[in-house]
Amino acid sequence: RAGLSTYRIGQQVLAYDTVLSTQPLAHEAAAKGAPEGTLVIAEQQTGGKGRLGRPWHSPRGTGIWMSLIIRPEIPLPKTPQMTLLTAVALAKTMWEETGVDIKIKWPNDLFIGDKKVSGVLTELNAESDRVNYLVIGMGINANLEQKDVPPELSSIATSLRIESGKPIKRVAFIQRFCENFEREYDHYLREGFERVKSEWEQHSYTIGKWITVSTIQYTLEGRAIGLDEEGVLILEDATGKRHKVYSADVNYGAN
Ligand code: BTN
Repeated sequence: RAGLSTYRIGQQVLAYDTVLSTQPLAHEAAAKGAPEGTLVIAEQQTGGKGRLGRPWHSPRGTGIWMSLIIRPEIPLPKTPQMTLLTAVALAKTMWEETGVDIKIKWPNDLFIGDKKVSGVLTELNAESDRVNYLVIGMGINANLEQKDVPPELSSIATSLRIESGKPIKRVAFIQRFCENFEREYDHYLREGFERVKSEWEQHSYTIGKWITVSTIQYTLEGRAIGLDEEGVLILEDATGKRHKVYSADVNYGAN
C-alpha cells in the first residue's frame, strides 16, 4: 500500500525494540509535548500491562504493542467514549485486514468467537476538569501461532493469524488502523458520539448477553441491552429495572 494518508494519527512514530511497557514511554513523550497522534511502538514488552493490574504477554515479533497519544478537547466524563471509539477502529481494521468477524466485549476487549485477540488500556492525564491527554494502549495478538500461546491462555486467547490462517502484515495493519482511527475520531469531534455508539453496538459481543458485574460494594446480574448516549452500558435485571454500568465496574472473571 502507498504511504499513510492521515494528517496526524501515526504521523510521528517512536519505535523501540525492547521496552518494559509502551505506556509510560507515551506518557513521557506526551508530557514533553509530543503532538496528538504520536504512536509509541515496541517489538517486545517485558512488563506489558493489561487492565486491572494484570500483566499483558507481549513476546517479540508476533504482536502489535503500541500506545497512541491523543489530546481531545472533551469533558472528563466523556473520556471512556475514546476507548469505545478505539475498539471500533480496531475491529474494523482487523476485519479489513483478515476478513474475520470481530466482536467487542464490553468495555474494550476484541474477540473472535469466544477468545480474546486484542485489548485496550486507556490512561488519562488530566488537571482538575481538563483533559491534558490520553494514552491509549493497544495489544493485538497478530502473528502468534498456536505453539506461541501459553497453555494457560490457550482456551481464552487467540491471534489474527490463528483465526485467519494467514500472517498479518504489521506495518500495513498499523497504517490502516491510523486511517480508520482518524476518520472515526474526526467524525466524533465534529458530530459527537452517535456513530461510534451504533458501530460499537453492531459489533458488540456483550449486548443481549446475561452478565454479572462485580465491584467491591455489590454484584449485579442482568441482560446488557445497549449503550446510553454517554457510552455507559445499560443492564436490565430480572425485575426489569435498568442500571448503568461503568467500565470500571465490570469484572468478567478470567478474561
Ligand atoms: C487489556 O486487555 O487488559 C489491555 C491490554 C493492553 C496491552 C497494551 S500493549 C501496548 C500497551 N503497553 C502496555 O503495557 N499495555 C498496552
